Amino acid sequence: MALVTSDQILNPAREGGYAVGAFNTSNLEISQAIFEAAAELDAPIIVATSESAIKYAGYANLSIIIRHLADYYGVKAALHLDHGKDLDVVVKCLRNGWTSVMIDASKQPYEQNIATTSEVVKIAHMAGVPVEAELGRLAGIEDAVKVAEREALLTDPDQAAEFVERTGCDFLAVAIGTSHGAYKFKGEPRIDHDRLTAIAKKVSIPLVLHGASSVPHDVLERASKFGAKLPGAKGVPEEAISEAVRRGISKINIDTDLRLAFTGAVRQIVAEKPEVFDPRKIIGEAREAIKEVVRRKVELFGSQGKAR
Ligand code: G3H
Ligand code: 13P
Ligand code: ZN
Repeated sequence: MALVTSDQILNPAREGGYAVGAFNTSNLEISQAIFEAAAELDAPIIVATSESAIKYAGYANLSIIIRHLADYYGVKAALHLDHGKDLDVVVKCLRNGWTSVMIDASKQPYEQNIATTSEVVKIAHMAGVPVEAELGRLAGIEDAVKVAEREALLTDPDQAAEFVERTGCDFLAVAIGTSHGAYKFKGEPRIDHDRLTAIAKKVSIPLVLHGASSVPHDVLERASKFGAKLPGAKGVPEEAISEAVRRGISKINIDTDLRLAFTGAVRQIVAEKPEVFDPRKIIGEAREAIKEVVRRKVELFGSQGKAR
């Protein structure tokens, strides 16, 4: 089917109490894996492209591939700009058929974040495209040493309500203790679920969780067994993700787990079959591994069978 806008996917998710995965892609095989898993589970999906993914693969290549895959597999999907920072990129996405954009001005001071987000909302809405914005900071493992520092980075529920009201954004990414990448926690994972509940009470648009990869044990082990050096890699436990969905998260962003799956599969085939040099035999293995991860996420988020 034709790509849909992300509000057509996320508003039903919010009402239905489940979450939809936003999976990052930058090439054909990752995109195929995402669509194949979604098609098999009859799940709606959001296919996300970062600014650097677009720089790597090109606007038209990504847009044409993803548009075609949605049609080919009959999947209900939106093509989303992830962490848009540059207005020029946002506009190019709108011109190239993206059906969802994120403006991430979360590093800007509050009032400036409101001004930047409001400007993007105005432009994107003229094109009929919904906007995700971010409030709070997804601090990395080293970013906030003291508890008070960490607290200050997380999303404030009252400010979130005001932010949504003043910007007119369609979805809000919140900071509740997750961060991007494979090294999310030094010690025990800490996710502020109560803060999420407080935000969900005050904000009536779909909420988004970034940095939600779990760094699954089996995926990490496969990569490590075949030479990846990822000591101390740690993600958000799957139970913490389920709890976040129960407390009101409607969109969950996953990139790291796909990258880990890709790396593990490529490393294994290259190590075990040194005679193989056909790229399709190497990347094909990675595609299967990513598909398996996407399938698991869809089931964890509860979006299987929700495409209609
Ligand atoms: O949020 C970040 C995503 O994982 C994308 O990362 O800029 O390396 O493509 P990237
Ligand atoms: P992970 O690094 O946890 O996969 O998060 C991805 C993300 O938030 C993309 O926007
Ligand atoms: Zn993110």
